[in-house]
Amino acid sequence: MHTTKQLFDLSGRTALITGGSRGLGLQMAEALGEQGAKLVISSRKQNELDEAVAHLEKMGIDVVAMASDLGKETAIKPFAEAAIKHLGHVDILINNAGATWGSPAEDHPLEAWDKVMNLNVRSIFLLSQAIGKHSMIPRQYGRIVNIASIAGLAGNGANMQTLAYNTSKAAVINFTRTLAGEWGRYGITVNAIAPGFFPSKMSRGLLETMGEDAIKRAPLRRLGDDEDLKGAVILFSSTAGKHITGQTLAVDGGVSSVLI
Ligand SMILES: NC(=O)c1ccc[n+]([C@@H]2O[C@H](COP(=O)([O-])OP(=O)(O)OC[C@H]3O[C@@H](n4cnc5c(N)ncnc54)[C@H](OP(=O)(O)O)[C@@H]3O)[C@@H](O)[C@H]2O)c1
Repeated sequence: MHTTKQLFDLSGRTALITGGSRGLGLQMAEALGEQGAKLVISSRKQNELDEAVAHLEKMGIDVVAMASDLGKETAIKPFAEAAIKHLGHVDILINNAGATWGSPAEDHPLEAWDKVMNLNVRSIFLLSQAIGKHSMIPRQYGRIVNIASIAGLAGNGANMQTLAYNTSKAAVINFTRTLAGEWGRYGITVNAIAPGFFPSKMSRGLLETMGEDAIKRAPLRRLGDDEDLKGAVILFSSTAGKHITGQTLAVDGGVSSVLI
């Protein structure tokens, strides 16, 4: 029997966070590190990774950055191997790196469709497979957290034209359920977080045009802030979440719970 504090403690655990250089990934890296996990964060831009490492180290967090383009299939296996080598094993995998594209459906470029689906869906499959097969399954333990979106729970009105993005995030949600069903027998939980609107580089343009509207539509009348994902990611990553798998938790100020 654990105390409640112990249930949420990640001391001695290791975590790999993709897209950990900024935005939601960096927020979750802070949370996992503060709870005691040793981290590898990744993204493409080395300068942003260096800044994130300096920031996390200042908080007393044990972290290493590995630059990798997860849009490139051939990069994923060596990246997974390097992360396992550095950490010894990976207890927690946060599949957070993602991309979006705005375009009317009738003009949506195929190239952009492929880019979004490739990073948001295919790379999550490949990285989960590599980490699962070579670290989590052999150790019969793992926590996988996929960052979906409320855009994966419903379509948009005509203002938000992100057909590939919504399609990819819906795929992430059923990927989560299906992998949870297969890997539960190995002691691996697989859950998803569906964030609502959070200010970040990705959402900047969108929030400039419809930020006020998003706030009005949210039952809690607010956007997500720089700590709102922390509780959900720690729940799914810790012993506290050991009986939860295949689930998607919207962290969205209530946006997805109302019709209008
Ligand atoms: N912000 C929101 O309102 C919101 C809402 C719902 C869901 N989400 C989801 O949350 C996740 C994080 O989004 P965010 O808002 O924090 O966006 P962000 O600030 O643009 O961060 C995206 C992260 O992913 C990395 N990345 C992008 N392409 C990559 C690639 N090909 N290979 C490796 N890393 C790559 C970026 O670094 P580099 O560019 O250096 O590679 C960055 O670290 C995404 O999955 C997004 O769909 C966000």
